[in-house]
Amino acid sequence: MIKRPIHLSHDFLAEVLDKDSIAVDATMGNGNDTAFLAGLAKAVYAFDVQEQALQKTEERLEQLGLDNVQLILDGHQNIDKYVDEPIRAAIFNLGYLPSADKTIITKPDTTLEAIEKILRRLQLGGRMAIMIYHGHEGGSSEKEAVLNYVKQLPQEAFTAMCYQPLNQINTPPFLVMIEKLKG
Ligand SMILES: C[S@@+](CC[C@H](N)C(=O)[O-])C[C@H]1O[C@@H](n2cnc3c(N)ncnc32)[C@H](O)[C@@H]1O
Repeated sequence: MIKRPIHLSHDFLAEVLDKDSIAVDATMGNGNDTAFLAGLAKAVYAFDVQEQALQKTEERLEQLGLDNVQLILDGHQNIDKYVDEPIRAAIFNLGYLPSADKTIITKPDTTLEAIEKILRRLQLGGRMAIMIYHGHEGGSSEKEAVLNYVKQLPQEAFTAMCYQPLNQINTPPFLVMIEKLKG
């Protein structure tokens, strides 16, 4: 069956991850992406602004026996306070956490700040996956902000792609993929 954007996001990152690599989950939520990255990378830095996300993710990692994750209760825009190693792979799942407070959403300014900081720290050949959920209030302006930012990345330094359902009703999420080619 054709891959959903979320599945492609994992495959895209898995291709560059190994046991020497550092990965970032910029939007931890329930820890699905954190657990996925932790299974492949040497170490993962995972961010969320909600205590609930850290608790859920910690439980999940414990169940899986994964102990290579640093759970950080802070906005991803402050990543430079926590990570100074080169990053091999990073993922964002924008929007809100369905099982939690739906007013806590990612926001254009802080999302762009985090994307910019992570792209700067990405290794050559490193990758970023951004899942864009845009059906909620505020989602459309965040979508536009991210697309406008990614579209102006210099093509000699980054390859950027988009994977999007074309015939689904409502506002299905889609995936933006970026690979760093040059420092
Ligand atoms: C769509 S959910 C993430 C889902 C998650 N990847 C999972 O596997 O369950 C978006 C998350 O981003 C978090 N968030 C909102 N603003 C943030 C920020 N500035 N920095 C980090 N996380 C943020 C929300 O609290 C929410 O948990």
